[in-house]
Amino acid sequence: MYFIKYKHIVYVLFIAVISLFWACSPKFSHDVKSFLFDGVPDPYKVEISEINDSLKLDSTSIKGVFSNPIVRNEFNLHPPYKKRECENCHDRGSMSKSKLPLPELCYQCHDDFKKSYQVLHGPVASGSCTQCHNPHQSKLKNLLLENGQELCFTCHDNKKITNNKIHEKIEKTDCTTCHNPHGGVNTYSLKAESCYQCHDNFKKEYKFLHAPVASNNCSECHASHKAKTPKLLLRLDNEVCISCHNSKEIYATEYHQKIKKENCTECHNPHGGNNKNFVLIQKQ
Ligand code: HEC
Ligand code: HEC
Ligand code: HEC
Ligand code: HEC
Ligand code: HEC
Ligand code: HEC
Ligand code: HEC
Ligand code: HEC
Ligand code: HEC
Repeated sequence: MYFIKYKHIVYVLFIAVISLFWACSPKFSHDVKSFLFDGVPDPYKVEISEINDSLKLDSTSIKGVFSNPIVRNEFNLHPPYKKRECENCHDRGSMSKSKLPLPELCYQCHDDFKKSYQVLHGPVASGSCTQCHNPHQSKLKNLLLENGQELCFTCHDNKKITNNKIHEKIEKTDCTTCHNPHGGVNTYSLKAESCYQCHDNFKKEYKFLHAPVASNNCSECHASHKAKTPKLLLRLDNEVCISCHNSKEIYATEYHQKIKKENCTECHNPHGGNNKNFVLIQKQ
């Protein structure tokens, strides 16, 4: 009989603790309520069932994320989405809109690309992150909407880019071999030293480097995409050189006086060398 009195006190305490939690976060509150009773509506599930396909989101798979662990494995989930932290990006009242404009929404948690790069890629500058990334989930790595080149060709004209024989094969590889998708030091958003992934590294090869090579500006002389010329050169013959060097000054010097018809590259390595003016030893 002593025990029965005790049981009442325990019961009252239990209810008090529960009602404290009742006022907590909707998720916790829901978890507690549904532990006690059947059929408590989940505030998240109600909204999720309304999700449509407007973002190329597969609605069945979204339901699956919460109910079917097999479907879940097919997708890479964005961590805040996986953790159901919808409020980080949406107002509770209007789930279909983001709570901040892009890209600020993303920069809440990710590095601001304006600080990382001098020049931003067009759609990054305009905050069109969702033109390339799904904010919730994707079967592809990095939450991408398309794989490899296809991603870039959603906006860029395939034919204008992959149109020379020399780099034809490598252009069929991922564009991000050479380009950073977000930005870079110049408008082309090239990854630093991207060319040396496949070509000999002049920096290791030569003691003296030609200034535009030292600064990785291969595009001053080569057109990686467009050129139909040999060696992908932007300009032919000595035009390559006198686009930067003053031809009058060059031809005024003693060692150049008799060579007007000769190709600069007959005597100079265009990239660098082991003597100061990268004069090709065999021609000296
Ligand atoms: C990392 C930020 C982020 C998180 C976290 C997030 N969303 Fe979204 N969601 C977005 C963005 C961005 C859009 C696109 C909105 C736009 O185009 O204005 C979107 C669109 C939507 C849409 C409208 C698109 C459609 O298919 O109808 C719904 C509904 C939605 N989200 C529900 C959710 C739910 C539910 C959660 C939590 C499980 C969630 N979101 C978590 C960023 C997020
Ligand atoms: C609430 C914080 C938060 C917000 C807001 C957020 N992210 Fe993320 N995101 C993360 C976390 C955490 C990771 C995983 C760790 C990492 O890679 O930094 C991640 C990873 C990613 C990845 C890499 C995924 C992978 O598969 O490796 C991409 C891409 C991404 N986020 C894009 C976005 C975009 C686009 C937005 C805006 C629509 C956004 N994020 C907004 C937290 C956030
Ligand atoms: C033109 C398509 C494109 C746009 C637009 C874009 N991204 Fe990406 N993003 C990519 C690709 C491709 C990758 C994969 C990484 C790689 O290949 O270098 C990536 C990777 C990421 C990653 C994970 C790896 C990393 O670099 O940290 C994050 C986070 C990310 N993007 C965030 C964003 C945010 C935020 C925006 C908008 C401000 C954005 N992206 C806009 C294409 C894009
Ligand atoms: C959502 C559309 C979109 C996607 C997807 C996209 N781009 Fe762009 N890209 C643009 C816009 C817009 C510009 C700016 C065009 C301008 O300023 O003339 C641009 C500019 C560029 C430039 C500089 C062009 C110049 O002449 O200065 C390069 C390089 C580039 N993009 C490469 C890529 C690569 C690589 C991918 C795939 C990872 C990609 N883009 C995907 C829209 C896109
Ligand atoms: C993914 C590998 C790869 C990358 C990255 C790459 N190339 Fe190439 N490049 C090749 C291949 C393959 C060829 C054709 C075979 C050859 O002649 O070596 C080639 C040929 C060339 C040629 C003509 C060579 C000749 O003898 O006719 C030049 C010039 C060139 N690349 C410049 C560049 C520049 C500049 C970059 C950086 C913007 C670059 N490449 C990045 C693979 C690559
Ligand atoms: C000042 C102009 C100039 C710059 C800058 C330049 N190149 Fe060249 N490159 C040339 C010329 C000219 C040739 C042709 C040489 C010949 O026909 O003897 C050439 C040839 C090449 C070749 C063909 C193989 C060879 O060595 O002859 C490759 C590969 C190459 N360059 C890669 C690069 C890379 C990578 C960069 C940037 C790190 C670069 N070039 C920067 C002018 C330049
Ligand atoms: C081998 C390295 C390399 C690869 C791979 C590559 N690019 Fe480029 N891209 C460059 C370089 C270097 C430039 C700078 C201009 C030049 O040298 O022709 C450039 C310039 C561009 C430009 C602006 C100028 C133009 O020619 O219109 C766009 C857009 C572009 N690339 C898109 C792409 C796309 C899309 C892909 C994938 C299909 C891709 N690039 C693959 C090296 C590369
Ligand atoms: C994009 C501009 C540019 C182009 C194109 C260019 N050069 Fe240069 N070159 C420079 C700069 C910058 C220097 C550094 C010396 C200076 O300030 O005059 C330099 C220096 C030199 C030197 C002297 C070595 C030194 O470092 O002082 C030689 C030799 C030379 N260039 C040869 C050539 C030849 C040959 C070509 C054509 C294949 C060529 N250059 C094309 C910009 C260029
Ligand atoms: C017949 C061989 C030969 C030809 C062809 C040649 N040069 Fe030279 N160049 C030399 C020699 C030799 C030197 C001096 C080397 C030294 O003293 O170390 C030199 C030096 C230079 C220098 C550095 C000193 C200065 O005068 O500024 C530049 C820049 C240069 N050449 C550019 C060019 C250009 C551009 C062309 C093509 C229009 C060219 N050269 C053609 C042999 C040649």
